[in-house]
Amino acid sequence: MNRVLDGKVALVTGGSRGIGAAVALRLAEAGADVALTFQQDQPRADDVVDRIKAVGGRAIAIRADSADATAVVAAVDRVADELGRLDVLVNNAGAFLLGEFEQLGMADFDQTVAINVRAPFIAAQAAVRHMTEGGRIVTIGSNMAERAVFPGFSLYAMSKSAMTGLTKALGRELGVRGITVNLVNPGPTDTDSNPADGPNADVIRGFTALGHYAEPADVAAAVTFLAGPEARYVTGATINVDGGFTI
Ligand SMILES: NC(=O)c1ccc[n+]([C@@H]2O[C@H](COP(=O)([O-])OP(=O)(O)OC[C@H]3O[C@@H](n4cnc5c(N)ncnc54)[C@H](OP(=O)(O)O)[C@@H]3O)[C@@H](O)[C@H]2O)c1
Repeated sequence: MNRVLDGKVALVTGGSRGIGAAVALRLAEAGADVALTFQQDQPRADDVVDRIKAVGGRAIAIRADSADATAVVAAVDRVADELGRLDVLVNNAGAFLLGEFEQLGMADFDQTVAINVRAPFIAAQAAVRHMTEGGRIVTIGSNMAERAVFPGFSLYAMSKSAMTGLTKALGRELGVRGITVNLVNPGPTDTDSNPADGPNADVIRGFTALGHYAEPADVAAAVTFLAGPEARYVTGATINVDGGFTI
């Protein structure tokens, strides 16, 4: 792979499994040193770190619950401190809390908004203090913010749609500093939270134009493009990697 990110440092939240792990590895293959956060599973985080080191990059794993604002900011600052700089922030960690509208409680609301809205906001705020011209912020949203095909998604869809406003407003505000801000909205992607052999997978796949799930690497490819120099004129944009789910 073309090492377009040589000399760059990236942070991927929720990088120990699924889409985040694929993004972390792909950024490393493109030459970046990569830090990742995780919530619980240290062995899986360590495994991703080992795989990044195997392709020649430096890597660290940081336990940081995205629901904990202090931990999020501390993780960003630690990356800049330990790896020497911060060029790319990928807001990937997400809460996937579904439920019938009238059954969703205040704790569900607060947890979802803390992880899916507050964490990307404050991580970006902390990251731009370290970023220079060429900095990149990429957030992982969701197809469900664009097309609500199932009941039970009110909280999740609401929280993910907030990323459109954040992306556009930040893209506008940070453009003058040469920092781009973009959103990638995956469709059904084969991970632990939405397995391609899960009980509703056939129905879900039926809503796509391509008729199948994405692999995490499909989402990682779009993120890596946005993180690289060829995307220097792309900001405030949303890329749907959803197999046509939203068309
Ligand atoms: N999969 C899909 O079909 C799909 C579709 C649209 C959008 N998305 C979005 O894509 C993103 C990644 O989803 P995924 O399917 O790859 O998830 P996943 O396979 O369940 O992986 C979740 C990752 O995030 C970490 N994580 C979970 N909660 C966290 C928290 N509170 N703080 C820090 N890290 C946390 C996990 O760490 P531990 O291992 O330590 O728990 C793990 O590394 C999410 O924002 C999701 O909403 C996914």
